[in-house]
Amino acid sequence: MSYPPKNPLRIGLVGAGWVTQHHLPGWKRMADQARVVAIADPDAAAAQSRAAEFGIERVFDTAQRMFDEVELDAVDVAAPREFHAEVVRMAADKGIPVLCQKPLAPTLEQARELVADIAGRTRLMVHENWRFRPYYRDLGKCLRAGRIGDVVQAHLTLLSSGLIPDEEGRLPALVRQPFIGRLERALVMEILIHHIDTLRFLLGDLTLHHARLGHLSPAMKGEDRAFLSFETARQAPVSILSNLAVHGRPPAPLDQLTVIGTRGTAILDGATLRFMGAEPGEHTYDMPACYLQSYEAVIAHFVTCLRSGADFETSPQDNLRTLELVEAAYAAPRNPMEAA
Ligand SMILES: NC(=O)c1ccc[n+]([C@@H]2O[C@H](COP(=O)([O-])OP(=O)(O)OC[C@H]3O[C@@H](n4cnc5c(N)ncnc54)[C@H](O)[C@@H]3O)[C@@H](O)[C@H]2O)c1
Repeated sequence: MSYPPKNPLRIGLVGAGWVTQHHLPGWKRMADQARVVAIADPDAAAAQSRAAEFGIERVFDTAQRMFDEVELDAVDVAAPREFHAEVVRMAADKGIPVLCQKPLAPTLEQARELVADIAGRTRLMVHENWRFRPYYRDLGKCLRAGRIGDVVQAHLTLLSSGLIPDEEGRLPALVRQPFIGRLERALVMEILIHHIDTLRFLLGDLTLHHARLGHLSPAMKGEDRAFLSFETARQAPVSILSNLAVHGRPPAPLDQLTVIGTRGTAILDGATLRFMGAEPGEHTYDMPACYLQSYEAVIAHFVTCLRSGADFETSPQDNLRTLELVEAAYAAPRNPMEAA
C-alpha cells in the first residue's frame, strides 16, 4: 500500500482517557513529522481538556464524525477495548492507517475477525509498548548477542499490594485506572498481555502449557492473580507469577525477571538490569523516563514504518500470537480458591 510522505501527517486521536496523557507527549516529540489535529471522545470535558493542553484544533463526540469531517493521514485509537474493532473498521473503510491500543479486541476470535476484515484495506499496528521499554530493548539485544548463552529457564513475577486497602481505605490498583475493576478479563487481558508479549519479544515464540487464574478481591469483576507456564521453541520453561493483593509488595507492581542461560544470568529487578556470569554488568534505569519513552518509541516506530513501508514490529499477525496465549490462559480451569 503506497503512502504519501506528507509533512506533517495529520493524526486523529480516538479516546481522551488516562492513557492519552502518555500518547500526546509522544506525538508532540514527532511534531515535525506528525501532528494530532483532531480528537474524539463521547466525554466532551475529557476531549476538550486534552485539546486545550495539547493544541488540538478539532474536537468531536464520536470517531465517525471525526472521520467524516477531517482529512486524516492516520488514526491513533485509545478508546476502551470494546470499541477498538469498530473504530479500526471505520479507518479501514477510508484506507486510513491505524495505531490501536492493546488489547486489539476483547476476545481472540473478535481480533482474528477484525484482522481478516481489514486485510489489504489499511495498515494496522498494535500499540504494544512494554517491549519498547529501554531495559527490555537492551536485554533483547544482549540475549540475541549471546551474552548469557542459550536460555534454559526464565521466570517473571509481577506482584503488588494494589488490591489491599491503603490507610484511607482506597485500593491503589483501582485509583489510577478504575475500569480495571469492571473488566471480566482483567489481570491477564489488561496487564499481563504486556508481559506475555515482552517474553515473546525476548525469548521467541512461546507455547502455553499450564495456567491457573484466580479471583479473590470483591472489588474486581475479573481475575486478580495468575500463574502461567510456557515453553520456548527450544523447550526452555518460562513462567509468570502475578498477584495484585500481596502483603509486603509495593502498591504499583514492578517487573522482576530472571533469565538463566548457559553462560550467564540476566536479572531485571525493577529499575536494575544485572548480568552475571561470562559477561557481568549492571545498569539502573530512570523508570518514569522509561515509561514515557516506551510510548514515544511506539509512536516513532509507527510513523517511521508508515513512511518507509516497512513492516510494523507489533503487526496484527504478531499480536495475534500474543492474543492466542492470552485466550489459552482463559480457557484453562480456574483456581478453586475463589471469592466467596
Ligand atoms: N499500553 C499501555 O501501557 C496502556 C496503559 C493504559 C491503558 N491502555 C489501553 O488504552 C485503552 C484506554 O485506556 P485508558 O486507561 O485511557 O481508559 P480510560 O477509561 O481512562 O479512558 C477511555 C476513554 O475512552 C472514551 N471512550 C469511550 N468510548 C469511546 C468511543 N466509542 N470512542 C472514543 N472514545 C471513547 C472514554 O470516554 C474515556 O475518556 C485501553 O485499551 C487500555 O487497555 C494501554
